[in-house]
Amino acid sequence: DAKHSIAADLLNWYDAHRRDLPWRAPPGAQADPYRVWLSEVMLQQTTVATVTPRFTAWVARWPDIASLAAADEAEVMAAWAGLGYYARARNLVKAAKVVAAEHGGRLPDNEAALRALPGLGDYTAAAVAAIAFGRRAVVIDGNVERVVARLFAAAGKPAVRAAAEAITPDRRAGDFAQAMMDLGATICTARSPRCMLCPLAAACVARATGAQESFPVKPAKKPR
Ligand code: ADE
Repeated sequence: DAKHSIAADLLNWYDAHRRDLPWRAPPGAQADPYRVWLSEVMLQQTTVATVTPRFTAWVARWPDIASLAAADEAEVMAAWAGLGYYARARNLVKAAKVVAAEHGGRLPDNEAALRALPGLGDYTAAAVAAIAFGRRAVVIDGNVERVVARLFAAAGKPAVRAAAEAITPDRRAGDFAQAMMDLGATICTARSPRCMLCPLAAACVARATGAQESFPVKPAKKPR
């Protein structure tokens, strides 16, 4: 049916066009959960282009959770400099200590247990569960929100979440999530989306009415 073919078409596109990024495993291989977690935290407020060299330097200095759990706080803060929102760096070390002390040094492999760690919100827990552990989880960042809003002409976060939930496949949920992110970053961009190149153009409701640039619908500003 239509929903299954969206996932299948997107995954076929990803297999041909996936971006090669330092936290991604080669096709078919298992990504390192520590690298996935670190990248998702860095990428929360910062672009892929800015994060990439910072990520590489970070994992050279602290290659695993054990080393990060033992890291010097001032050195960690210096390594984070310029990435903003320093609580994210502090929480990385805090969570690494919890993982070292309570989880045998391995990140837990499911959304609920990940969500219990310092600094892991709904987004990060879902992203790590899907990308690092292959769990079916619904991963919605700004790019994914825009792609899904256009595909279904979905207005508002609850409608977008319901639609994303409906098209998330049981298998390859991590690849699916990163394919949505890549599609949003490279083709279904905020301005002037390149629908001619989009693997999902035929299914896209916004595209069918030429309304792709009217989505996502921004919530009305609160009066003040
Ligand atoms: N933005 C947030 N997470 C990402 C990922 N895993 N790949 C590419 N862009 C992202």
